[in-house]
Amino acid sequence: MKKSGFVVLALAGGLILFAAFIRPNGFNAQDPPKGIPDSVWATLETSCYDCHSNDGNGMAKVKMNLDKWDEYAPDKQMAKAQDICEVMGKGAMPPSKYRINNPDAVPTPESITRICAWVHQKAR
Ligand code: HEC
Repeated sequence: MKKSGFVVLALAGGLILFAAFIRPNGFNAQDPPKGIPDSVWATLETSCYDCHSNDGNGMAKVKMNLDKWDEYAPDKQMAKAQDICEVMGKGAMPPSKYRINNPDAVPTPESITRICAWVHQKAR
């Protein structure tokens, strides 16, 4: 192998290690919350995470910060989960302006049903 090829490889490897271990804020590299199943998280990450996360919108992350989900007490998680099902069921979240600008992030009726089923099963 030519020396320059090796340098490129070494640099790429270094970058991957950097991304894996340092995880600077703003990388969206946070682990998904342990308290949220993957099938539910997939939708919340797509439709809600931009605002409801450490790097999100001030008011939104005060109301609900998905990066802090695992730090919420169980009764707070339950209350937030119920709020999630409610606001999504009403079509109140994501906000209408965000829907217009991010059509791909609009949750499908199926994904809302899946999330509410998770909430109802949690509440039993
Ligand atoms: C464009 C940014 C944005 C996105 C995307 C977004 N939200 Fe919000 N959300 C806000 C803001 C701002 C508030 C606080 C003001 C308010 O209640 O309207 C909020 C408030 C909330 C609240 C608290 C409501 C209350 O009455 O206390 C819940 C629950 C919520 N959002 C859930 C969601 C869910 C679930 C999604 C994804 C399906 C989502 N949001 C997507 C900006 C956003």
